Amino acid sequence: MKNLLRPILERYALSPTGTHGLSHWARVLEIGRILAPLTGANLKVVEHFAILHDSCRQSEFFDSRHGERSAAYVMSLKLDLTKKEHLLLATACKLHNHVERSGPLDITLETCWDSDRLDLARVGSIPDPERLFTTPAREPKFIIERSMEAFVENLPSLVKKEWGMNFKQELEEKEFIRYKKMYFDDFMKRVEKSLMKCK
Ligand SMILES: [Fe+2]
Ligand SMILES: [Fe+2]
Repeated sequence: MKNLLRPILERYALSPTGTHGLSHWARVLEIGRILAPLTGANLKVVEHFAILHDSCRQSEFFDSRHGERSAAYVMSLKLDLTKKEHLLLATACKLHNHVERSGPLDITLETCWDSDRLDLARVGSIPDPERLFTTPAREPKFIIERSMEAFVENLPSLVKKEWGMNFKQELEEKEFIRYKKMYFDDFMKRVEKSLMKCK
């Protein structure tokens, strides 16, 4: 995984420390690793999805085709996956920014998409349980826990331990993140209120 990050970052068009960059990929990976054993998803595909799904973004804001681009990129890569896993990964990337719940789909795809959506609080959005696919992801306690991490863009320890990188200081100095920290309590109250409504 660490070796794969190098070529991904070499062509990544945005700041690696931005909202859709490494810190987000690491939290999606962390969430995927929690969800996969609970849902029965293919962990290898979920892990690859975490670092690839937003790798072809060209804007931190509106970029409706970044899923398609990342799927094409995935297909161009030589990965340690079977043909079936490779195709599943490309599908997960292609659809991740459009797909909605409409009946049971592949559990690995669903786990990938939930891992990404559970990190939505970094942009001030509250994950909507109705738009989450798997039962463990819809657990209110888990949504709250992940939103706490996401809102302040907390850097998972795996970034240092597994990827050998450290940009905690850089993140902490970002004005946007410092500003959000001032509203942490208000935001978490909003999360809890919105989840109460869903019960
Ligand atoms: Fe995305
Ligand atoms: Fe994402």
